[in-house]
Amino acid sequence: MDWGLQNRIARFVKPITGHTVMLAADHGYFMGPTRRLENPRATLEPLLPFADAVAVTRGVLRRSIPATSDVPVVLRVSGGVTVLKEDLSDEAITTSMEEALRLNVAAVALSVFVGAPHEHQSLVSLAELVDEGEAMGMPVMAITAVGKELEKRDARYLSLACRVSAELGAHLVKTYYCENFEKVVEGCPVPLVVAGGPKLDSDRAVLDLCEGAMVKGAIGVDMGRNIWQSDHPVAMLQAIRAIVHEKATAREALQMLEPGRKPSAARSAPA
Ligand code: 5RP
Repeated sequence: MDWGLQNRIARFVKPITGHTVMLAADHGYFMGPTRRLENPRATLEPLLPFADAVAVTRGVLRRSIPATSDVPVVLRVSGGVTVLKEDLSDEAITTSMEEALRLNVAAVALSVFVGAPHEHQSLVSLAELVDEGEAMGMPVMAITAVGKELEKRDARYLSLACRVSAELGAHLVKTYYCENFEKVVEGCPVPLVVAGGPKLDSDRAVLDLCEGAMVKGAIGVDMGRNIWQSDHPVAMLQAIRAIVHEKATAREALQMLEPGRKPSAARSAPA
């Protein structure tokens, strides 16, 4: 891997642990003003000091994240369809590599829709983006999207989608946690991070998901709704950091959510 590409990845996959806590806020580009992300600036501002990266579109980046921020950015570059359509797979590249370089981002990300009506177009977009990324020193993260078919999230399907993404050259893959997640990890030769998906029933369920993913071989999370839709988003993000960077168990991390507990260090402090 070329130096620039490695260096960009090292901005958000912290070299000290080899792990990462990415804050996903790239929902509005197809979901509109998602609950508790209606005003991205207000939602993100208290969270950014505790995130190893933030995942956003260029619109939110320019309007809602100060250019003086030192948080690494993973730029969502695919889109073109909204929740009003039944088939969410009809995406194309919506933001150029030149724009990503201009915005000085740490990586670009796009969704791939394996098995969906527009599978071919999303996979070709991935391969073309990787060609550009390799030429420019820009890491590409593939997101194994399932659209509205959340039931697709099992080890058999996700193993296929992650492996195909890696074979086409993705440097990182974001996928879902599932039963037998270790099989997904085993079949994927590049690092995996997990999304959270729609808000889970309890804090413990979120932390169990994070612990399970880390124990089974993920290098971190790229999580949104289960953080910023929480009633205590900063504490939740810190609890997830403890699992990802300090090998805390879900039970230990849950104690960090107790009311009145003092906040722990932000991302810039040693792990
Ligand atoms: C939206 C995305 C999100 O980044 C991804 O789903 C993670 O967010 P959440 O934890 O809320 O599922 O790709 O397009």
